[in-house]
Amino acid sequence: AEAEKGGWPSFMAKEISEGPEAIRNTLRARIEDGVIALGENETLTDEQLKNLDRIIIVACGTASYSAMAGEYAIEEWARVPVEVELAHEFRYSNPVLTENTLVISISQSGETMDTKMAVQYAAEHGAHTLAICNTQGSTIPRESDAVLYIHAGPEVAVASTKAFLAQVVGQLLFGLHLARVRGTMTDDEIRTVTADLEALPEQLAFTLENADDVRELAHWMSDTRSVLFLGRNVGYPVALEGALKLKEISYIHAEGFAGGELKHGPIALIEPGQVVFVVVPSPRTQPTMHSKLISNIQEIRARGARVIAVAEEGDAAVLPYADIVLRVGTTHPMLSAVLSVVPLHLFALELASAKGLDVDQPRNLAKSVTVE
Ligand code: G6P
Repeated sequence: AEAEKGGWPSFMAKEISEGPEAIRNTLRARIEDGVIALGENETLTDEQLKNLDRIIIVACGTASYSAMAGEYAIEEWARVPVEVELAHEFRYSNPVLTENTLVISISQSGETMDTKMAVQYAAEHGAHTLAICNTQGSTIPRESDAVLYIHAGPEVAVASTKAFLAQVVGQLLFGLHLARVRGTMTDDEIRTVTADLEALPEQLAFTLENADDVRELAHWMSDTRSVLFLGRNVGYPVALEGALKLKEISYIHAEGFAGGELKHGPIALIEPGQVVFVVVPSPRTQPTMHSKLISNIQEIRARGARVIAVAEEGDAAVLPYADIVLRVGTTHPMLSAVLSVVPLHLFALELASAKGLDVDQPRNLAKSVTVE
């Protein structure tokens, strides 16, 4: 196993470092001349895609947060109503499914029983099924009408990292393809997004190479007992994912919230010294949400919170309000989850390592849960 880690202290560390390569492989041969080139076996026929009136994305755990990030993009670009359902809830909620419904499953392993049962239920009730999956030939893709493999490479650590990034990118490719087929985006509009998609691997590599701040922070915080995460829009699932990773491998109580929800409850948790990570939207592309989140930061700082902001390069407005700023590259807002989640993955890894925990094999968890 030591050899397989390729010199890294853990599979998780290795797999985080493989993020850029994972995304490069998800994108490979799927963008031609700036537009998306997906085969019909990777989606559905154009006719079927045109007739869709609803998309439901089913998944569990980290995959369900990647689904939430995908939901914003697919709905924004293709103008089809999209919702995310936890796979184990979906099947027991008597969902409305027709031949114009597409049920997309997201699963790294392709073997998660809850997700598999949701896909079977969808197929039995007449919906189309598309698997977005990492593992070639696994059960869920075999049982689906179509499969879009993300090609992130094997993931061994129980906590999913590079697969999350590739799952988001897989959904973005599908969303752009759907938008093209349905005519809700022009090829030129699609090209502006694919240019940003193709820049992601290098931007990620840069973030990974400049992660000393995150490491220091994690060591400084190794006694922390509770961490909160705030985000809005695609930053909201990033907040949820940041919290999940801390729970999974650091055994720290952590929760993610939507920024706007703060005043409806969670702000009661803020007391002096409470650490809050804030995933800040871009001031260039999401100015309204940016200023709303800055207001959230002011509210929690006034109550003594220590704020760690994950913010776009060049966002100077955030500086006076944050104790620490972790920088990520500039990209299209629908792609931003791919960049902003990485400091949070690294933070969980470093904090668990600082506590001397086995990051690859956290207690009570399995890489793939093949029972209901
Ligand atoms: C398990 C793992 C999680 C993972 C979830 C879904 O709970 O511990 O890391 O996110 O399963 O796995 P899947 O293979 O379906 O993506």
